[in-house]
Amino acid sequence: MAGDPAKGQQLAFDRNRGGGCLACHVMGPKTLETPGNVGPDLSEIGKAGRTDQWLYNYVYDGRVYNPKSVMPPWGRHGFYSEAEIKDIVAFLKTLKTPAKFANPLDDPEKRPQPVEDRDALDPFVNPAAERIDAGATLFRQNCVACHATPQTTFKRWAVEMPKWEPRLKKVLGAEEFIARHAKAAAGKDWLMQSQANTDLSIYLHSLANGEAIKVDLSSPDAKAAYERGVKLADVKLGQFDFACTDCHGQAANKWIRGQWLGEPKGQFDHFPLWRTSRNEVWDIRKRFQWCNVQVRANELPPDAVEYGELELYLRKMNEGQKLTAPNIRH
Ligand code: HEC
Ligand code: HEC
Ligand code: HEC
Repeated sequence: MAGDPAKGQQLAFDRNRGGGCLACHVMGPKTLETPGNVGPDLSEIGKAGRTDQWLYNYVYDGRVYNPKSVMPPWGRHGFYSEAEIKDIVAFLKTLKTPAKFANPLDDPEKRPQPVEDRDALDPFVNPAAERIDAGATLFRQNCVACHATPQTTFKRWAVEMPKWEPRLKKVLGAEEFIARHAKAAAGKDWLMQSQANTDLSIYLHSLANGEAIKVDLSSPDAKAAYERGVKLADVKLGQFDFACTDCHGQAANKWIRGQWLGEPKGQFDHFPLWRTSRNEVWDIRKRFQWCNVQVRANELPPDAVEYGELELYLRKMNEGQKLTAPNIRH
C-alpha cells in the first residue's frame, strides 16, 4: 500500500481531526505531550507483523475485527478519506522504536490518577456551595407553607431519587420533580436547568448530605426501567460511535489524552456540581447531554425518558455511596 508517512504522521497527530490518534495511543519517540492509553501503545506496530490490509481496515473501521472496538470508525464515519488512511498506514509502518518521555507526566502509564480533595462545601472554593443559601431562600418563599420542616422531612429525599413514577410512567429525577411540583404546588415555571430549579436542587441535595444512596427497584416497572437503562448505557452512538460503557467501562481508569475516565461507581454521588472548566453549575442531565455531544451525537432534552433510565442505572451503580453535594469537578 503506497502512502506518504510524513503526511500520515501529521494527520495522526492533528487534534482537529476528531482528536487524533494520540488521544488514545502512544506512537513512538515523536509522540507529543500527554498522549492517552485507552488503546495499546503503537510505538512498535511497524515491526509487529501486521499486514497493510489489517492496518488499513483497523483504522477504516476496527469493528470488522472487533465489533465492540473502542476506536472510532475513522474511515466509515468520514473523519479521514481513503487516501489519508493510506498515508496513516504508511506512517504506522515506520513505527519501530519505543517512546521516550522527557516529562514523566507525559507517560500515561505513570501519570498519577487525579484526586478531588477540594473542600466542596467552602463557598470560596466551590461557587455551587453558595447556591445552597439561594435555594433555601426560594424554599422559604415558596414551599415552607406546606413543608415546615424540610431538614427532617427531606433528610433522605435526594438520595432516594430518581424513582419510578407510576403516574407519569417514567423515571423521575430530582430536577424534573422540582420543575413539575413547583408548577403544580407553587405556580412557578422553574424548568429543568434554570437557575431556580438548580438552586432548589442544590438545597434539597445539601439536606441529604452524608446519607447513603438508595434505589428502589421493588416494583416490576422500576426494575424494567432499570434494565432498559443498563441496555442504553451500552448503545454506541454519534460520529465517534461510543457507548457510555466504552468510555466508562472498557476504557475506564485510563487516560483519553489528559482526561481520566471514571467508572460508574463514584460518578453519581456528588451532583449537582460546579464545573471549573465551564464555570457553570451542572445537574446530572447536563452531564449526560455533554457526554452525548462530545461523541458528536445530538443531546436529548433534559427530561427525556432515556435520561431517566440512564440515571436510574447509574444511581444503582452508586447505591450505598454517601452523598456529597454540591460538589466540584474540573
Ligand atoms: C478513543 C480511543 C482511540 C483512538 C482515538 C484511536 N484508537 Fe486505535 N485503538 C484503540 C483501541 C482501544 C484499540 C484496541 C482494541 C479495540 O479495538 O478496541 C485500538 C487499536 C488500534 C490498532 C490495531 C493495533 C494492533 O495491535 O493491530 C491500530 C492500527 C490503531 N488502533 C490505530 C489508530 C490510529 C491510526 C488512530 C488515529 C487515526 C487511532 N488508532 C485512534 C483506541 C483508539
Ligand atoms: C400547596 C402545598 C405545597 C407546596 C406549596 C409545595 N409542596 Fe411539596 N408537596 C406537597 C404535597 C401534598 C406533597 C406530597 C405529594 C405526593 O406524594 O405526590 C409534596 C411533596 C414534596 C416532596 C417529596 C416528593 C416525594 O418524592 O415524595 C418534595 C421534595 C417537595 N414536595 C418539595 C417542594 C418544594 C421544593 C416546593 C417549593 C417549590 C414545594 N414542595 C411546595 C405540597 C406542597
Ligand atoms: C468519549 C468518552 C465518553 C463517553 C462515550 C461518555 N462519557 Fe461520560 N465522561 C467522559 C469524560 C471525559 C468525563 C469527565 C471525566 C470523568 O469524570 O470521567 C465524563 C464524566 C461523566 C460523568 C461525571 C463523572 C463525575 O465524577 O462527576 C457522568 C455521570 C458521565 N460521564 C456519564 C456518562 C453517560 C451516562 C454516558 C452515556 C450516555 C457517558 N458518560 C458517555 C467521557 C465520556
